[in-house]
Order: sequence, then C-alpha cells, then structure tokens
Amino acid sequence: MGMIYLDNAATSFPKPPVVAKAVANYITDCGANVNRGRYKTAYQAEESLYETRCLIRELLNAPDERGIILTGGATLSLNMLLKGLLKEGDHVLTSSMEHNAVMRPLEQLRDKGIVTYTTIPVSAQGKLLLEFLPGLLKPNTKAIVMTHASNVCGALFPVQEVGRFCREKGLYFILDAAQTAGLVKIDMEKMGVHAIAFPGHKAMMGPQGVGGFAVTKDIARSIDPLIAGGTGSISHTTDMPAFLPDKFEAGTPNLPGIMGLLAALTWLKMNDPGLFNSKDTEVAFDEGIKTEVFSVLGHELSLMERFLTGLQAAGISVAGPMHITDRVGVVSVKPPFQDPARIAGLLEEKYGILTRVGLHCAPEAHKSLGTWPEGTIRFSFGYFNTEEDVDYTLTALKELLHGNETT
Ligand code: ALA
Repeated sequence: MGMIYLDNAATSFPKPPVVAKAVANYITDCGANVNRGRYKTAYQAEESLYETRCLIRELLNAPDERGIILTGGATLSLNMLLKGLLKEGDHVLTSSMEHNAVMRPLEQLRDKGIVTYTTIPVSAQGKLLLEFLPGLLKPNTKAIVMTHASNVCGALFPVQEVGRFCREKGLYFILDAAQTAGLVKIDMEKMGVHAIAFPGHKAMMGPQGVGGFAVTKDIARSIDPLIAGGTGSISHTTDMPAFLPDKFEAGTPNLPGIMGLLAALTWLKMNDPGLFNSKDTEVAFDEGIKTEVFSVLGHELSLMERFLTGLQAAGISVAGPMHITDRVGVVSVKPPFQDPARIAGLLEEKYGILTRVGLHCAPEAHKSLGTWPEGTIRFSFGYFNTEEDVDYTLTALKELLHGNETT
C-alpha cells in the first residue's frame, strides 16, 4: 500500500528535491553566518539571504525587500506583529475563523488587560459577514487581523474589501497568509495590507522552521521588536537597530532553512511565474517538461472540484463554501453518526491516506462552522497530488462511510 499525503494545509509534502539539496549544500559547503564574518562564504550566505528576501517581496508585492523579515514561521511572526504593535487600551477586530496563532496571542494580551478584541462573524458556510464590520468599529480600534483563507474549511476571505475598509478608517491591516502564501496571488499594495505573516513550509514549499512577515515602513515604525539581541549591526550600542530588517531579526537566522526556502521559491517561480509580481517576465522554463504555464492554484482547485463533486454525489457533507472560487484546496468533512478520529484512523490504516482530524488548532472556526467539539477530517491538496489520489480517496471514504454497496 502506498501513501497518499493529503495534509498539505499542515505542511506541504513532498518538497521539490532541490530543497533538501540546498539545505545539505549549505551545511556541507558553506556553513557561514550572515552579517558577521568578513570572508567569502559569509558574503555568499548574505547574498542568498538577500535573494530570498527579493523573491518573497516579488511573491507578495511587498514595498521593499528590507521589510521582508525572516523568522521561525507564521506563528512567531504573528506573535511579533501583534505583541509589538498593540499597546495598552487598543482594540482589535478579528474574524471568528481564526487559527490559534492569532487567537492565543490576542487572548494573552486581553488576559493581561492590554487590549480588547471583537470578532467579525462568519456565516455557517464560513463566509465573512462584512456588513457587520462598520458596527464593530470603536474609537480605539487600531487594527484588523485576520486569515486570508481558513485552515479548517478553505474559505477565502475578501481581503481587498477589508483592506479598503482599513484604509478608509485609518486602521492597520494584518493578514495571516498561512494557507495562501505561495498558492494564491497576493499583492500587499493592492490589497491594502500593512503586514502579512507567512510560513515557509506550506505552499511556499520550503522546510519547516522558516517563515516570516512583510511590513510596510509605516507599520514597522509602530511595532516594537519582541526579540532583542545581536544583529551584526550597530554593535557599539545595546539598543536594537531602528532600521529594517535588523529591527526584527536578532540572533543567527535559520540559514539551512532559508537556503531551502530560496531553492523552493526559485523552483516555484519557474513552475508558476504568474504567482509572482515580477517585473521581469523572462522566466526560464524547464524545456521538455513544460508545455504551458502552470498554476499551482489552478491545479489544486481542479483537484478540489473533483473531490467536492464526488463528495456531493455520495451525499457526504462538507463544511464551508461549495463554490471553488470561494475557497482553496482545504476540505473538511464531517462524517454523520461516525467518530471523525476513527474514520481518519481507518483511512490511514486501510488505505494509506494521511489527513488531519480534530479541531486543527482553530476551535473558534469549528464553533462558527457548527463542527465543534468533535471536529472534522480535513483533506488538503498540494502541488504533487493527482486526480488518481482524489478518486482513490473518494472510493475509500464511500467504503468507510456507506459500506461497499455505494462504491
Ligand atoms: N496550522 C496548520 C494546520 O492547520 C498546522 O494544520
């Protein structure tokens, strides 16, 4: 029995082979720190770090590569953004579909009496109810922080409308792009986003332990650095540098992870150049493999559509929106009269299908979707999944939920 990996919302797998090679090459052939040593391999590492920032800037249409901050991941980034920006007496708006990477820092800040927050409701299908937004605004509202797409049901949020609202009302807009960076076209400027947190190890295809955030100069000035330490710059003082990226990058970065991320992004740009907000349209295509421009999102949406159609035909209900333009390739199934954990266990044991079951670190999202407290079985598609994977999974689910007669 082979293995079918359908947990790409947790972390993408497999990675393009160039990623592991880049990590190994850095460790065996370079190994130097950045911004510290004055020798050739240190300069090589610095150049790669700079290239990584440039590719991420292009991917997000961020204003400046110096505003691309590399961290350990999206969770650390969100903590740095929220805890650095929010001050005593601030009020924040968030959605009722958030991951704990947003909810837990907000709760910590609320518990300490520093901030208050209000959630913008979503419909039972996971649609953000924008009409409630104006009524939730308070004189001390400083920011809106929300996900771009739900990690539970895949619902995409109307980022551009929220960005417009933030612009009109003078609010900061912080976006959690955990499920979209490297998959959905992002344009920070057009979307009116001031800060965006991203993981390197999901659709960006890099290794775990690397990610970051992108900031405009304006919001960066208002954020205090959560982490202080050596930066290799202005070492004569014990103050943190006020300039970017050093203000938010104390300590030695995860360089093996960054080299892997650079290889992943280079690979992604070759495979799906349309995802990048590039000025240069000249992208080298891998002759003989490519016959047309590939869209990672298009591929995942077509797999998801096939899966949703199959589920509907089999009478298996799905949480979240049903139309493919309203979602990404994350599908949550709530098996009627069955324990989701048992079904997910059988999917692995009998069919080799790997999913994520339970609450997906997003209890608020499950409450909003009516799938609390038992949760759902989540199937999340990635770059390397195929139509055969979808069909096999549909067959397996039908056998487990309905018995053999429906297969
Ligand atoms: N946030 C990741 C997930 O949804 C880990 O699985």
